[in-house]
Amino acid sequence: MFLYPSPTSLIVGLVAICALIACAHGDYLIGVGSYDMTGPAAGVNMMGYGNLEQVTAGIHFRLRARAFVVAEGPQGERFAFVNLDAGMASQLVTIKVLERLKSRYGNLYNEDNVAISGTHTHAGPGGYLQYILYSVTSLGFVPQSFDAIVTAIEMSIVQAHESLKPGSIFINKGDVENAGINRSPSAYLFNPLEERERYPRDVDTEMTLLKFVDGGSGKSIGAFSWFATHGTSMSKDNKLISGDNKGAAARFFEDWFDSTTRNSTASASSSNTSKKAMEIKATGGQPCSKTTSQGFKVRKNKAPFVGGFCQSNVGDVSPNVLGAFCTDTGLACDFNRSSCHGDDRLCVGRGPGLVICWSRYPDEILSTKIIGERQFKKAIDLFTSAQQQITGKIDYRHIYLNFTNLEVELDGKVVKTCPAALGPGFAAGTTDGPGVFGFQQGDTEINEFWKRVRDFLKEPSQYQVDCQEPKAVLLSTGEMFEPYAWAPAILPIQMLRLGKMVILSVPGEFTTMAGRRLREAVKETLISEGNGDFDTETHIVIAGLTNTYSQYVATFEEYKQQRYEAASTLYGPHTLSAYIQEFKKLAKAMAKGEKIIRKGPSPPDLSSVQLKLLLDPFGDSPPPGKNFGDIENDITSPKGGSFRKGDRPSATFWSANPRYDLLTEGTFGVVEMLQAERWVPAYDDDDFCLYFKWKLDNSSLYGLATLEWEVPDEVSAGVYRFRHFGSAKKTTISPTKYFTGASSAFMVS
Ligand SMILES: *[C@@H]1O[C@H](CO)[C@@H](O)[C@H](O)[C@H]1NC(C)=O
Ligand SMILES: *[C@@H]1O[C@H](CO)[C@@H](O)[C@H](O)[C@H]1NC(C)=O
Ligand SMILES: *[C@@H]1O[C@H](CO)[C@@H](O)[C@H](O)[C@H]1NC(C)=O
Ligand SMILES: *[C@@H]1O[C@H](CO)[C@@H](O)[C@H](O)[C@H]1NC(C)=O
Ligand SMILES: *[C@@H]1O[C@H](CO)[C@@H](O)[C@H](O)[C@H]1NC(C)=O
Repeated sequence: MFLYPSPTSLIVGLVAICALIACAHGDYLIGVGSYDMTGPAAGVNMMGYGNLEQVTAGIHFRLRARAFVVAEGPQGERFAFVNLDAGMASQLVTIKVLERLKSRYGNLYNEDNVAISGTHTHAGPGGYLQYILYSVTSLGFVPQSFDAIVTAIEMSIVQAHESLKPGSIFINKGDVENAGINRSPSAYLFNPLEERERYPRDVDTEMTLLKFVDGGSGKSIGAFSWFATHGTSMSKDNKLISGDNKGAAARFFEDWFDSTTRNSTASASSSNTSKKAMEIKATGGQPCSKTTSQGFKVRKNKAPFVGGFCQSNVGDVSPNVLGAFCTDTGLACDFNRSSCHGDDRLCVGRGPGLVICWSRYPDEILSTKIIGERQFKKAIDLFTSAQQQITGKIDYRHIYLNFTNLEVELDGKVVKTCPAALGPGFAAGTTDGPGVFGFQQGDTEINEFWKRVRDFLKEPSQYQVDCQEPKAVLLSTGEMFEPYAWAPAILPIQMLRLGKMVILSVPGEFTTMAGRRLREAVKETLISEGNGDFDTETHIVIAGLTNTYSQYVATFEEYKQQRYEAASTLYGPHTLSAYIQEFKKLAKAMAKGEKIIRKGPSPPDLSSVQLKLLLDPFGDSPPPGKNFGDIENDITSPKGGSFRKGDRPSATFWSANPRYDLLTEGTFGVVEMLQAERWVPAYDDDDFCLYFKWKLDNSSLYGLATLEWEVPDEVSAGVYRFRHFGSAKKTTISPTKYFTGASSAFMVS
């Protein structure tokens, strides 16, 4: 027996195992991984809404990178897919992750066979993208956000790689009810009637799920699903870090799986588990380590089960399924413009959380929970009933394209894509997060004032103006290079094949119909160019916001209306046609088993020129006479003395800026339960019911951390207290010191 196998012995071992049991039967090597990527929880602008005032001020639940690796055998083809609780993938993140993988594994994982996809939560710290437009509101590049993401992706792939074992993969599909509506239905109606008539809805409701089963134990090790709905259940005013509805679905799925496994093992050994269960819940299955020099870390389990909820053709799909209404009158907004008597800011989408007046959750938290649960419940259905086993080759194709002036053949004519540009509809925002006053979705003209502002920044060339028609050019980002590029020109596209499933990695947000056209074109090509490997049963999924980010892709017809999605379709009216043309080339090469010879121009690495205008915290002290961790506001016990389900006990501590140490894979707070004269952690800041909130006191000099607990339905009666963990530096060059503090005990009945 060896404890620490070397890579070589591991490979030799795997070859032997593989030859004995799995690979002979057409199965795969499978590994999964998951790592905390929660970035700075104070003072950093959130990525998504472009709202300058939306800066982090605590954590609702943690962000994670979740990965799976599949391989045909130790030496065979493989790919890695990573799903991030982030707004989107970033070119610079991808570049740095690939560099780190190269130094660990040589050429095993590279740009061709690694896909990094974002869930599109709008509640994660920003500043990790390299093009100017995407770091305006974060005041430039934020290294701490960036590093947290890069490290988490690397670690999740390392875990997946190191846990590779023979196993089987199953696929299943089904409809998720009421988790998304079209937020630009008027643009959808521009698509041809015959085309629309082929589909029952103006959004895709299908979820595709992969289930991974370990070949040795027969136990499930993970499931990844793809389904399109925006990560905008949390609003543009939210300041708590959150994975939004997809992160919530993943949290619920992994917790459900833990509790199912625990129930089945529990019933086999003993029925005496309730206290143990509490202990395990807090720590994810491992005994939790006590306060260490690194501060408190509740060790999450080393990913026995990973549940990923991935994004798809999400462009025009809103999770605010009650529709958009005017905030002043309560009436429906203008259908074509999504405005209320001309004001775009008054038209706001409503999530399912709104109508439940008796709810104890704020609307947006409840909406996140409900939309998360709808995806989670469908995923359980698909997971438990998955029958169809995947067999066949693993393969991939990847190419970079310069979208500035791609030639596209359309009905015998040659048309071109344009340098990137945004129209006025972009500034109007969407019903999920309205934009700037003075713009409306569908605008094809810009007033004199904004024209002057635009020309001050950069007057678009006449070529650009003509090329982008009917979009009016508000920001010619593809022609703006000062102080460095405002928008990407080079984009990657990628196809990953796992037997009869094909994943299309797209670097943006395709609208519903754009996604359908792409999937269909790829499928037709695979079937017509292939030798029977592909047929009508081949499953094609779009992985949105993958590898880099370039905003939206609307259809040619939707582009005519210039709503938000069209105004944000960067490369002009033929953007989608260009994608379809180039993906068909990849599909043909895959179907015929040909390699891609011309891999296209590499995207730039702009890390050395990034502007960084956001200051790091420069030292914290507690107020005179106090220590970090001291209570500022203790528990206020309710009448009757004890809290009940749904109550929200809270306590506030003197604390330091949470940016000194992100407590990765740890927690800023726990709810502890008294058990046999010991305090045992029961919930941490990754739990949906525990909130960590951070702010400055009235003097703006001292930090305050509040822990607030929504007493959950499944709670055990008993004695509880809050414990806060943090770290501080006196000055930027001081060593980091860790501290902790506890509230008074309180009863829950
Ligand atoms: C596990 O057992 C608990 C207590 O019996 C029950 O409430 C819970 O629903 C079970 N979980 C699953 C997934 O069956
Ligand atoms: C349950 O645990 C208690 C102590 O915690 C022990 O005395 C008792 O025997 C256990 N019951 C069962 C059924 O294992
Ligand atoms: C929306 O615009 C279309 C044409 O672009 C027009 O036919 C339709 O009447 C408009 N609908 C409403 C409700 O204004
Ligand atoms: C993309 O193409 C444009 C137009 O040909 C060219 O000016 C630009 O340099 C190219 N961009 C890169 C990064 O190669
Ligand atoms: C802070 O200001 C608020 C409102 O101005 C006031 O109610 C509160 O008492 C102040 N708190 C402290 C600690 O001074």
